[in-house]
Amino acid sequence: MPTPHIAAQEGEFAPNVIMPGDPRRAKLIAETYFDSPRLVTEVRGILGYTGTIAGRPISVMASGMGSPSVSIYATELARAYGVTRIVRVGTMGGAQDFLQLGDVIAASAAHTDSAMTVRRVPGINYSAAPTFSLLRAAVEHAESAGIPLHVGPIFTTDAFYQPENDTVAKLIAMGTLAVEMEAAALYTVGAVEGFQTLMVGTVSDHVYKTEEMSSEEREKTFGRAVEVAIAALQS
Ligand code: HPA
Repeated sequence: MPTPHIAAQEGEFAPNVIMPGDPRRAKLIAETYFDSPRLVTEVRGILGYTGTIAGRPISVMASGMGSPSVSIYATELARAYGVTRIVRVGTMGGAQDFLQLGDVIAASAAHTDSAMTVRRVPGINYSAAPTFSLLRAAVEHAESAGIPLHVGPIFTTDAFYQPENDTVAKLIAMGTLAVEMEAAALYTVGAVEGFQTLMVGTVSDHVYKTEEMSSEEREKTFGRAVEVAIAALQS
C-alpha cells in the first residue's frame, strides 16, 4: 500500500485529514488535539499521525510548501488511503487593511498563478473553490465559539518572493483577503480526485504592513484555526 511519498499501511489513515504545511505543526496538532495519536508515516520528514477526537478517527499530515508538494500528498491520500476530506490549516500574508495579525480566514475561493491548476483544463480559468458543507461547518463553529472569521477569496502563489509587478495590488483591489501557497492546488486536486476540501488559516504577517507577532501569539492564534478546522471535519 505505501505510495512513493507515504509509508503508512492500508487503513492507517482516517477519512478525515487536517493538513498543515509544517511537519512540526502536524506533530503538535496530533499531540494537542488527538487521543492516542500514532505516527503512521515520516517519509522525507513529512509527518502523519492518526488518532481520535471524541471517539472519531482523524489524521493529520503535513503538506510541505507550495502547490506541487500539497498536490502530491493530497493525491496519494485520496487514491491509496481512501481519504475523503482534507482541511488545510496554514498561515497567510494578510492583504487587506482591516486584517490584524492572528485573524482567522476561511478561503471561499483561491485565485492562483500555479501551473498545477492553471493548465488543468486547457482554455479555461478554473475556479478553485472549497466544499460548501465544510465551509458552512467552519462558519457555524466560529460563530458559536465566538471566533471572528473572515470568509473570502485568497491568492495561492508559487512565488513567496513576488516579482516586481502589480499582480498582488490588483488582486487586493478586487477584494482578495490574503496570500498563501497551497489552497488552490488542494481545492483543484479535490475536484479532480473527488474528495472534499477547505482551507482555514491565520494571518501570520501582512503583505504591506510591518507588524510582527511573538511566537506565543502565533501559536495561540494558529490554535484557533486548528479548532475551526477540526470542527469542520467533525461535522
Ligand atoms: N506569501 C506567501 N505565503 C505566505 C505569506 C506570504 O506573504 N505569509 C504566509 N504564507
